[in-house]
Amino acid sequence: MLNGPNLGRLGSREPDIYGSTDWAGLVTSVEKRATELGLVADVRQTESEAELIGWLHEAVDQGVDVVINPAAFTHYSYAVRDAATLVSKAGQKLIEVHLSNPHAREEFRHNSVISGVATGVIAGFGVDSYLLALTQLV
Ligand code: DQA
Repeated sequence: MLNGPNLGRLGSREPDIYGSTDWAGLVTSVEKRATELGLVADVRQTESEAELIGWLHEAVDQGVDVVINPAAFTHYSYAVRDAATLVSKAGQKLIEVHLSNPHAREEFRHNSVISGVATGVIAGFGVDSYLLALTQLV
């Protein structure tokens, strides 16, 4: 479960948009639900585009499914999209998630360069977006 920039600030970052659950709370909820579903979740967050791309390559090499919140990279990173393409082309699931509903926000958030190579997209349900993605994986 890969997360892009500023998501480590959850809880204090614009709680009116992203909710009051902090990053540690999100990780705990995801790990708990994963265990309930018989999955093992490896939850990571980075501010770095290069690191995120490296993790996508790692997912391809290890043959694991990916749930990704690319955060702001969603809207402009062709490099993250190209790496995400490798996951889909390998036949692994890649589910794009967002806490907020980007389509109900500023116009620059309406476009995702990732969605076109994602298996599916879940947005607007806060932490539940992540938990729904886990359910979809099984
Ligand atoms: C986000 C939405 C993005 O537009 C934003 O840049 C984020 C978080 C979300 O989870 O709602 O950092 O991906």
